[in-house]
Amino acid sequence: MDMEQTEVMKPETLEDLIKTLHQIFQSDSINVEEVQNLMESYQSNPQDWMKFAKFDQYRYTRNLVDEGNGKFNLMILCWGEGHGSSIHDHTDSHCFLKLLQGQLKETLFDWPDRKLQSGMKPRGQSVLQENQCAYINDSLGLHRVENVSHTEPAVSLHLYSPPFQSCRTFDQRTGHHNTVKMTFWSKYGERTPYELSVSQENN
Ligand code: SIN
Repeated sequence: MDMEQTEVMKPETLEDLIKTLHQIFQSDSINVEEVQNLMESYQSNPQDWMKFAKFDQYRYTRNLVDEGNGKFNLMILCWGEGHGSSIHDHTDSHCFLKLLQGQLKETLFDWPDRKLQSGMKPRGQSVLQENQCAYINDSLGLHRVENVSHTEPAVSLHLYSPPFQSCRTFDQRTGHHNTVKMTFWSKYGERTPYELSVSQENN
């Protein structure tokens, strides 16, 4: 099939990338490949994103960078050594995940079968490298993301469209799920007040 795709320039900085994302998301339909290619083409430069990258000793942090005119949320996630997310869905949104620093292991799962009430077996696994951009949505399944390194932190850039504030997390042994609220550790480089940033555990 001949898919029409507008020519997009390679972003030189994170700011450039955000500008182009705003243009692309003005449209009501999005081309997943176009967004993925665009995000992948940005060569990570810590100078661009350092002010958003805030780590916590115990779990990964979610740091809001841009609200995309209500069309998307762009955020930087900071993963200390050994930090990881629970198996989760994406609340019917698109999820783009680009590595800015380090490596992250992504494990894919099928949706659990409600009737079987059995454990969830991983369907596939990959290690995302710096500058790579992965994509997932609920029709492709569920995933868990982990920084398995014992020595190196990892930083990733996530775009969710439309934005969402809660998702479902799954227990790998039983397939049971919980709905959890997702919060930001910081917004636009500023620490969020403590009570607003305590998530109900996706990590
Ligand atoms: C992930 O993809 O594992 C991160 C989920 C989140 O947005 O907190």
